[in-house]
Amino acid sequence: MTRAVQTQRLAADRQGIAQAADILRDGGLVAFPTETVYGLGGDATNPAAVAGIFGAKDRPSFNPLIVHVPDVGAARALINFSNHAEKLAETFWPGPLTLVAPMRAGTKIADLVTAGLPTLAVRVPAHPVARSLLEILDRPVAAPSANPSGRISPTSAAHVLDGLDGRIDAVLDAGPCAVGLESTIIGLADETPQLLRPGGIPIERIEEVLGTGLEKAGPDINAPGQLASHYAPNAPLRMEAQSPAPGEVFLGFGPGDADLNLSRSGDLAEAAAHLFGHLRALDIMAAGRRIAVAPIPEHGLGLAINDRLRRAAAPR
Ligand code: TXA
Ligand code: MG
Repeated sequence: MTRAVQTQRLAADRQGIAQAADILRDGGLVAFPTETVYGLGGDATNPAAVAGIFGAKDRPSFNPLIVHVPDVGAARALINFSNHAEKLAETFWPGPLTLVAPMRAGTKIADLVTAGLPTLAVRVPAHPVARSLLEILDRPVAAPSANPSGRISPTSAAHVLDGLDGRIDAVLDAGPCAVGLESTIIGLADETPQLLRPGGIPIERIEEVLGTGLEKAGPDINAPGQLASHYAPNAPLRMEAQSPAPGEVFLGFGPGDADLNLSRSGDLAEAAAHLFGHLRALDIMAAGRRIAVAPIPEHGLGLAINDRLRRAAAPR
């Protein structure tokens, strides 16, 4: 179900945020900034709005959505908080962390949000615009990344419009996202906390707070978003490249020549913030050629960066 609409570009000021809240209250779809990536929001308690999200993204409907709330109290109303959840929420919320935990009985969350799972994914974003939108609306907002299914996540309003113009009611434009990678998703339904997706909070920091190691969930466990080919540019992609081969455009990391560089100083946070935007730009520059990417260290945010690159490089 794809609706042909005029997509409004709203300034992220008081008036624009109020307008976005009105659209969401009426069951419309609004893309909004978070510190990770732009989300495609719909009222999580409105089944038609949630169905609209899947339609706008062409997303397979078995894929459950993250619900966004303004504070920890609102999260408590939706999921059961274990000790692990308490520690993580206290340390990392608001911020780029999503908790998957058993959903409480009697919430008004639409069935499509969880795709029939007994668990719910919840996040308290840190972006001030996301926070005021959620506070004004006072309802949980279901929001996947605001890109057509299988494409690169958007880190600016222009990226959102590239993929979804005419398919959503509005986008709140607050400029580029600071983190640039989706949230880290931790599964807390079982005894041992599980890493369901590496993301904007390094795994090492989470393990430190929990005082225990995370179980790495396999690609087919419980996290349907873990499809192999995901976050994909059109151009084929090669990782761990020391230098570009003939016919390749080069995405660098650290000093040296490159068509674009994730971070000349080798800073992983800077690299994360640039990753999706640079992949989009190189995809256009490549014009049918391959994108080669310099090696990225496999620690801290590098784990999440390499995870996204592996998906972009996966056979389609
Ligand atoms: O940073 C983010 O997390 C962004 C911003 C907009 O908040 N959102 C985002 O959503 O990346 P999305 O839909 O692109 O990815 C959500 C992931 C999917 O891999 C989905 O399968 C997983 O969360 N997920 C959602 N509910 C789940 C559940 N109950 N159990 C396991 N995985 C779940
Ligand atoms: Mg996504």
